[in-house]
Amino acid sequence: MSSFRVDPYEKLWMLASGLILVLFLLAVAATAFYGFHLPGHETRIDPSRVASDPPFANPGVVERAPGRYDVYMRAQVWTFSPGEIKIPAGSTVTFYLTSADVQHGVLIERTNINAMILPGHVTKITGRFDKPGVYRFLCHEYCGAAHQIMFGTIVVEQRS
Ligand code: CUA
Repeated sequence: MSSFRVDPYEKLWMLASGLILVLFLLAVAATAFYGFHLPGHETRIDPSRVASDPPFANPGVVERAPGRYDVYMRAQVWTFSPGEIKIPAGSTVTFYLTSADVQHGVLIERTNINAMILPGHVTKITGRFDKPGVYRFLCHEYCGAAHQIMFGTIVVEQRS
């Protein structure tokens, strides 16, 4: 009978790899059952009508209540509309994002907002802007020749 010898260090690494897999599985289960959400898929939309039908035909900022804003934003090679957003400090902003053409993404600096913008889908993501200042956002999904110039700014103004 032949025996199969495994080096103790190798055994340790095999055990560690197994444990990491179990950890990842638990993390997936936790996100599924305890209300952590990835940037939300809100609804579907016909990408060929994004530029002609409301609300994305007239993208912009809508005040829902004092300190609460909705932003309808359209991504299209190689711009974000609106490209500049102004809100007062302390605002909670819900972004509705979609693309009129190819796959884009958005990352807003100094926030945890980081989402995909996909043709045919509306992504909904909410963030709070407490500190006044200029927050740049950029496309982080390669979308063609001028991908690197696709960016915009959010100006968070001091409350008067
Ligand atoms: Cu849009 Cu990269």
